[in-house]
Amino acid sequence: EAIEKGGYEHFMLKEINEQPRSIADCMRGRLDAKNGRLVLGGLRDYMNKFQNADRIIITACGTSWHAGLVAEYLFEEFARIPVEVEYASEFRYRNPVISEKDFVIAISQSGETADTLAAIELAKSKGATIFGVCNVVGSSIPRATHAGSYTHAGPEIGVASTKAFTAQISVLTMMALKLGYQRGTLSETRYMHLLNELATIPSKVERALKLDSKVKAIAAEYKDSRNFLYLGRGYNFPVALEGALKLKEISYIHAEGYPAAEMKHGPIALIDQEMPVVFIATKDSSYEKVVSNIQEVKARKGKIIAVVTEGDTTVRGLADHVIEIPETEEAFVPLIAVVPLQQLSYHIAVMRGCNVDQPRNLAKSVTVE
Ligand code: AGP
Repeated sequence: EAIEKGGYEHFMLKEINEQPRSIADCMRGRLDAKNGRLVLGGLRDYMNKFQNADRIIITACGTSWHAGLVAEYLFEEFARIPVEVEYASEFRYRNPVISEKDFVIAISQSGETADTLAAIELAKSKGATIFGVCNVVGSSIPRATHAGSYTHAGPEIGVASTKAFTAQISVLTMMALKLGYQRGTLSETRYMHLLNELATIPSKVERALKLDSKVKAIAAEYKDSRNFLYLGRGYNFPVALEGALKLKEISYIHAEGYPAAEMKHGPIALIDQEMPVVFIATKDSSYEKVVSNIQEVKARKGKIIAVVTEGDTTVRGLADHVIEIPETEEAFVPLIAVVPLQQLSYHIAVMRGCNVDQPRNLAKSVTVE
């Protein structure tokens, strides 16, 4: 086992640190930014269906569902097709309206999640096309779908999903860009620019990983907190959900992720000097709005930990701690912003003496209802 951990204390830490490579592996042979080429073998025979779909339905559980939420923003922004993101466990029992014109994407690291499999069978029985985004080769979900793309993240052993999440988003990003280009909703210049930016993500994630000692110091300060709030808007809303899920599953601290603007509709009542609030406040289209949400938390004496774009000075003046990540296109920020949140939950859990790789009550894949 020590050899498998490759010198790291835990699988989760190894997997967090593998992300520059796993994202690059996921893009290898698919993305050729210089020549403007994007090839997803699994899509080849289904591109027509995908392009002409009335609607994209994404179904998954847990972290994979969070990747699906990021994809909702990606598909709607780049390809202008309406998207619905469904918890597989709800979808399968809801008698949902599905037709042959729907393109269903099922996301799963393990490829064995019972609810996701059942959602696939249901959508298939209604005539929809099902595309799988899975990590484990030859698992049940890839066998149940019409087509799919593997994430190629390599084995993920830690129960808390990390590198599978960023690999899922990488595949979904490539799908959205391809779709947008084919449908003509993305101009050639914008498409080329985005491909080139996407190719820089592994090195930017590498830079983000260097924040580890800073994040560890923040973890030491907040490890005894009883609650955490994670807030973000737009593409960073799913990142907030994912940050909160990571923390609760491995450290057993109660944490909630919310769209930052929803705070005033309830969670703001929780804020006092005992409440750490993690903001994902990168320079994007909702930045100014998030800054005012930060001010609202500050006015109520909440402790502010903010993930910001390198060089940001505004938030620095407001937050108790800032974590600066490399700048990228707004649509690609989740791939980088989630990294310090993974590190934060990891360090807090270790400091609390928790079993990071095998948290209580959790299984790596949930093969029963
Ligand atoms: C994530 O850290 C979880 N342990 C869990 O939410 C997981 O993402 C979920 O069970 C879905 O698993 P899958 O991707 O293998 O289908």
